[in-house]
Amino acid sequence: MWCGRTGEVPVGSHERTLEERMTSACAMPQRAAAWLLLLMVTMIFIAFSPGVAEASDPPHWSSSTVTTDCTTPCHIPHHAAGDGLTASAGNVNLCQSCHSPSGAAGDLPINSSDVAIPGTQGTSHAFDVAAVNSPLGTQEPENPAMQLRVMGGNVVCSTCHNQHSAAASFGGHPRVSLAKQVTAFGSTGPVTSGGIFNGSTGVWYLVEIVTAGNQTSARFRYSKDNGTSWFPTAPATLGAGIDVTLDSGVNISFGTGSFSVGERWEFSASWPFLRSALDSSANDTGDAYCRDCHRSWVMDHDTVRTYDGNFKSHPVGVALDANGMGYDRSVPLDGNGAPQGAAGEDSNPTNDLLLDSGGFVQCLTCHGVHYVDSNTLTVDGP
Ligand code: HEC
Ligand code: HEC
Ligand code: HEC
Ligand code: HEC
Repeated sequence: MWCGRTGEVPVGSHERTLEERMTSACAMPQRAAAWLLLLMVTMIFIAFSPGVAEASDPPHWSSSTVTTDCTTPCHIPHHAAGDGLTASAGNVNLCQSCHSPSGAAGDLPINSSDVAIPGTQGTSHAFDVAAVNSPLGTQEPENPAMQLRVMGGNVVCSTCHNQHSAAASFGGHPRVSLAKQVTAFGSTGPVTSGGIFNGSTGVWYLVEIVTAGNQTSARFRYSKDNGTSWFPTAPATLGAGIDVTLDSGVNISFGTGSFSVGERWEFSASWPFLRSALDSSANDTGDAYCRDCHRSWVMDHDTVRTYDGNFKSHPVGVALDANGMGYDRSVPLDGNGAPQGAAGEDSNPTNDLLLDSGGFVQCLTCHGVHYVDSNTLTVDGP
């Protein structure tokens, strides 16, 4: 159980680790006081250190309008709610307090009713379920950071996600959120965000009109620290238009209408806060994410020829035609039957069978994680 392994944590090694410990309702009383003291010291340090790095990566940190910092709304209210909640119920509830249709992350709700029951229902990988499931052959993860966050024996959101760190190096799909207007100076035109984010960690973008005009004549600037500093360097400004490049692969477009001086929009661009790097490369040498908890099902094209009586997955960790038998295609077909990535493919990116960067088949080639309706014809998404 999670509480029993606190001794393995390098105490006070990192402020993020410390904060995460505070989310657990199972902290032991004698340790609680020490943690609280450490938390307060950390908070005071952050409060009085101008320009200190954010304790959590955007969008899990305050923007110009969303307030998310060390105490609001994740930690103190949660800690105060305390003992009645088990650790596992506490973690999923905390995420769902924002990741619900009416929450601050209402564009990315993950509801308990979405949990998959194979062959029956669901659009999301299971959570709040026992990590060890013998019919499906799952085991506790071997990755220490993930194993530490199997709470009360259960897989929870934080087993798979590190809600404080959005690292590009751990993979997953980058996301540019919808731009939201946060002022009311009378603009009639919309601003939309786009592009494929390629920054190393999450960013909140704040866009501000500096010269009034229409969708081509208005001029604007943008900030990545909620308005403390601006790009481009003054007095330079950027002109409105379609797909105007900001940075890190992100762009914005101005729709038909007028834009008033001072009007602001904000949006985030970030990575899916993964706890460890997604699966890549061969089964014995590559990064294991799905292949960690599900390791008893993992096999390659050689193992598949040796029946040992146990359930296994489709071969993974190998490239197409690894067995040299010549019956694999060189690229998978798209949902409409045309070669994926070539002329004639369908316009739905969520039904693509993606190989990893080395061209290897992985669990995620065929499976998704959330918002997966198992229908090739529909675009998956919240
Ligand atoms: C205080 C509110 C809040 C809480 C609590 C919260 N989130 Fe979020 N989260 C957000 C917001 C806001 C976004 C951005 C939503 C959007 O893009 O529209 C977000 C986005 C995300 C993303 C996608 C990031 C990206 O850009 O790809 C992940 C993954 C995520 N949250 C996981 C979690 C997990 C796991 C927990 C619980 C440990 C959690 N969140 C708790 C507010 C919250
Ligand atoms: C078994 C591991 C696992 C569990 C459990 C899990 N997630 Fe995820 N989640 C992932 C992975 C992996 C991705 C990234 C998928 C990708 O980008 O290809 C992801 C992506 C997301 C995203 C971004 C989705 C998008 O379309 O941009 C959100 C938000 C999120 N998770 C929230 C949660 C919340 C909240 C919980 C708990 C209720 C949770 N996750 C439980 C593994 C998990
Ligand atoms: C932290 C451990 C863990 C990780 C990491 C993990 N799984 Fe699972 N997975 C489980 C458990 C436990 C179950 C059994 C859920 C239940 O009891 O219904 C499961 C079930 C499943 C199922 C059956 C549907 C369901 O949700 O019950 C699929 C498919 C699956 N996992 C795929 C994946 C993929 C793909 C990844 C990588 C993105 C992954 N898993 C990562 C633990 C994990
Ligand atoms: C070549 C595509 C493919 C790959 C690769 C793949 N799966 Fe699957 N998986 C499927 C399909 C299709 C199903 C649904 C049919 C079924 O239940 O067998 C499925 C079903 C499952 C189920 C539910 C089984 C049940 O009892 O209903 C689990 C769990 C699962 N996969 C886990 C994994 C894991 C973990 C990996 C990586 C080690 C993986 N899969 C790799 C295609 C794939």
